Amino acid sequence: MSSTPTLALPTDPRAASSTPSWLLNQSNRNTSNISPPHAPITQPTSPSPVTATDSLLTHPPNDKHVHYRVPTSGTTTPAENAIDCPPPMPIFETATSLNGKRCMTDNWWPDFSVRGKVIIVTGGARGLGFAMVEALVEGGAHVHALDLLPSPLPAFTQLQTLAPQYHGTLTYHTLDITSPLAVTFTISGIADQHNRIDGLICSAGILNEVPALTHSPETFTKTLDVNVTGTFLCCQAVAREVITRHPRGKTPIISSSLSPPPPSGASLLLIASMSGHIANRALPMCGYNASKSAILGLTRSLASEWGQYGIRVNCLSPGYVVTKMVEQGLEKEAGGGAERRRRWEAENMLGRLAGQEEFRGVAVFAMSQGSAYMTAADLRMDAGHTAW
Ligand SMILES: NC(=O)c1ccc[n+]([C@@H]2O[C@H](COP(=O)([O-])OP(=O)(O)OC[C@H]3O[C@@H](n4cnc5c(N)ncnc54)[C@H](O)[C@@H]3O)[C@@H](O)[C@H]2O)c1
Repeated sequence: MSSTPTLALPTDPRAASSTPSWLLNQSNRNTSNISPPHAPITQPTSPSPVTATDSLLTHPPNDKHVHYRVPTSGTTTPAENAIDCPPPMPIFETATSLNGKRCMTDNWWPDFSVRGKVIIVTGGARGLGFAMVEALVEGGAHVHALDLLPSPLPAFTQLQTLAPQYHGTLTYHTLDITSPLAVTFTISGIADQHNRIDGLICSAGILNEVPALTHSPETFTKTLDVNVTGTFLCCQAVAREVITRHPRGKTPIISSSLSPPPPSGASLLLIASMSGHIANRALPMCGYNASKSAILGLTRSLASEWGQYGIRVNCLSPGYVVTKMVEQGLEKEAGGGAERRRRWEAENMLGRLAGQEEFRGVAVFAMSQGSAYMTAADLRMDAGHTAW
């Protein structure tokens, strides 16, 4: 009986550099939470997709997806270990996510790693902010959620208990982002705790649906206060911490084309909206729309001032996402907003509204080295709504 040749698969050559060089270069940075080098993959089950003569780092000739076994402590069955993937991706650890799906906790692609990063998410108690918090925690980041709600939703608490299996942590801070003192105090406390801040996502926001003719100055100002001033205060507090603590932070970078690309000081992602680009059809919310247009301008301005410190500033412009913010508007309509919902769905190229979980990936991208050369950009994720 022929047996499958026993091959000691080499570790991924990227393993030695799985800690991004920009992070290793920072002498004052805590690298204790960086993932260990990739472990070797065990031998695939018969029929073997690789032979002793195959290059172990290339795909099998027909590039078919095959089942590889993940080394574990030996308590799981082969069926549980089987993962459909193009070989030979090194996977050596798995964990369960909030919705029960299996997810990888190690880097498929180091460029998109957020492991060990310290990231603040405003509005992180629910909605879009929470979806992003969840993705970052699953990626092994140390996430601090800042929100007005006195306490977060049960799913948040559940995620806190799951965080250690991703090597991440999750902390909740009740905070009004329009309070300069509270923002400065909380953000400097987070920076002191970790001696760094790597990223900020500004998802806290409010929406008031009021016709322009009856829009009170108080409501209009409140919308601008939260959506624009609050966002600005958080960006400013984070930038001050990064610039003060970052070894490169105090002096503007002078780089030449011969020098290696400068390491990233921090990444900031502001949440604008497609409403910053267009006026939503039959939806009176001039204060909100003005605030989201302001975010587009704020993003460009901050990016232009802070690029010299390695701080990247980008924004995201989602289309309609079914969160509390949108549901509240739908619920006010006759028939639970079914007609409005149908109209909105017809207004974009995919014919549907988004789920908040569809913005997990962009959060990881924006907070990782994968977006290292992106600043002052607006990521429009609106199913083509504004392109028609
Ligand atoms: N849902 C959409 O269709 C949509 C579309 C485009 C853009 N956005 C933007 O995405 C962001 C998140 O929206 P969402 O849909 O998740 O809404 P949401 O209402 O579910 O979440 C917003 C969060 O911000 C928090 N918040 C509000 N005011 C705050 C304050 N002063 N200080 C601290 N936290 C505060 C709320 O408590 C809430 O947890 C907002 O900026 C929103 O404008 C949403």
